[in-house]
Amino acid sequence: MKNLFVATGIVCGLVLLAAAPAGARVVEPGTIWRDTNGQIINAHGGGMLFHEGIYYWYGEFKEGLTYLPKVNKAWGGTRVIAGGVSCYSSTDLVTWKNEGLALPSNAQDPDHDLAAENVIERPKVIYNVRTKKFVMWFHQDSPNYAAARSGVAVSDTPAGPFKYLGSFRPNAGARPLNATEEDLKPSPRNLLARDLEGGQMARDMTVFVDDDGTAYQFYASESNQTMHVSQLSDDYLRPAGKYARIHIGKAWEAPAIFKHNGKYYMIGSGTTGWDPNPGRSAVADSIFGPWRELGNPCQGPGAELTFGCQSNYVLPVAGRPGRFIAMFDRWNKWNLQDSLYVWLPVEFDAEGKLLVSWQYRWTLPE
Ligand code: DGJ
Repeated sequence: MKNLFVATGIVCGLVLLAAAPAGARVVEPGTIWRDTNGQIINAHGGGMLFHEGIYYWYGEFKEGLTYLPKVNKAWGGTRVIAGGVSCYSSTDLVTWKNEGLALPSNAQDPDHDLAAENVIERPKVIYNVRTKKFVMWFHQDSPNYAAARSGVAVSDTPAGPFKYLGSFRPNAGARPLNATEEDLKPSPRNLLARDLEGGQMARDMTVFVDDDGTAYQFYASESNQTMHVSQLSDDYLRPAGKYARIHIGKAWEAPAIFKHNGKYYMIGSGTTGWDPNPGRSAVADSIFGPWRELGNPCQGPGAELTFGCQSNYVLPVAGRPGRFIAMFDRWNKWNLQDSLYVWLPVEFDAEGKLLVSWQYRWTLPE
């Protein structure tokens, strides 16, 4: 039986190989991806920036062995040394040059936010046309994920080095746009009300720049139960204090946002640590919501558990309006550094739902 699978696989591979036109840019989801030096790409939970004809891929540089920290018992989760934020560049999306660490972690000072024992996850970089600065946002946390903060760094150049500005819990002192008096009533279980003064918990996150240049941070808040959409200041360095609660009590994380035909779309996941769960998607006419759930966008073998993956970013293909690539991590929780990348095209069905269909091999749009 096994031989039959192998033989079928080889035949399919040869047929596909013959089908791809010469010079085609081919993506093979879930296979080992190497940079131009032949090293395996180390950029997990990543994000993408397209700037002056070049794609920059930023991600978690996961260093060395995966271990089970004692402090992390409550989560039962595995961890790896945080090496910082890596950066790779490409003009064709398949050939990636290692640009080194855009933001290194701090191996010397165990009390520093960027200490290697801490968490540096889901980095995203946006470019501010007004200030001409590249601004990096990421999930900064303590080893047991209790700090739940956002880190910000800034650079004059896309590959860095970025200067670390610090971390905080977003929106201290601000009330959500859509909070009712009931939502704000203090009670031991009301995390929104508890954190009004000191700032809201922020774990998995992404940032998104709208057509008018206004930027927003999406972060899993209130102990991962509710997501917040938070407008950033004009310089993109702080929250502007205007935010809304979305997917209330639905425990979404891993948000990836894009805009198509005037609508905002989100791909995300549920909260099961490094283990995969059914993908989620949603659409909204206004970025602050309401967001309407569209279900699991994945189709094909393995779709029920997002092909063993979790979302990290949706990339609009430059110069190809309507073409988007959904980027996922296939986490290997026993060896996080070896987690793989799964990129698949996004499609829209007749009802406007998102579709991400499994493919062993596909060709990027010319
Ligand atoms: C799920 C998140 O999406 C990941 O970024 C990471 O924080 C893991 N949880 C840790 O268990």
